[in-house]
Amino acid sequence: MRKHIVAGNWKMNLNADESQALIEALKTKKLSSDVRVAIATPAVHLAAAVNLTSGTKIDVSAQNMHQATSGAYTGEISASMLKSIGVNTTLLGHSERRAYFHETDALLAEKVNTALENGMEIIFCFGEELDERKSGSHFDVVSSQLRNALFNFDASQWSQIVLAYEPVWAIGTGETASPAQAQEMHAHIRSVLTAQYDDALAQSVSILYGGSVKPANAQEIFAQPDVDGGLIGGASLNADDFAAIVNAF
Ligand code: 13P
Repeated sequence: MRKHIVAGNWKMNLNADESQALIEALKTKKLSSDVRVAIATPAVHLAAAVNLTSGTKIDVSAQNMHQATSGAYTGEISASMLKSIGVNTTLLGHSERRAYFHETDALLAEKVNTALENGMEIIFCFGEELDERKSGSHFDVVSSQLRNALFNFDASQWSQIVLAYEPVWAIGTGETASPAQAQEMHAHIRSVLTAQYDDALAQSVSILYGGSVKPANAQEIFAQPDVDGGLIGGASLNADDFAAIVNAF
């Protein structure tokens, strides 16, 4: 059985007090026992978030990490640093990292490799831009993003990988992929995994949808057979909204 996962990506939002207040508010909510819950906080809040969520069902994830294990990379954070404060999961490949920080598929393959070697779990983000959707190349774009960054890894390593399909045109825009569009792409992703590996692996990987998921649309999206959860941006900054999305399964 695939895991249902709802992860909040806080992006570059909330100062220390606000971060603590949001976690304290989340801790008062009843969160479905069937759903794994994670919050990807800004790096500067990770250690505090690990402490604040200790003993709860909320996991803490990083939003990014460097591909090198250590060294002269001013401003960067390594996998072993994350692990040393109890953070065992990281997002990688978010479209904002690809667009604003020039992260390529080749760089992401290196980051995934380092994360896997350090025993971390990865929530790997990918998705097409609006012009790619309009020109009908979205299936090919997604296939190549997966192939270039992930298909060098052995089937056994996929137990550490969660996929997050995030069409760029739906991120922060209020425009969501329709449930049918999400399902169509998630089914495509599973077929690509079947072709590269096998059906058992394809059926075992959790595939999250991200892009303007809100309490009002989460249930419809999560009801799709190949949608195993969500990666939530704006709505994860509000405890009521995030809890409602978790409980939409
Ligand atoms: P929004 O939910 O704000 O559209 O952001 C989605 C996202 O980028 C999550 O990583």
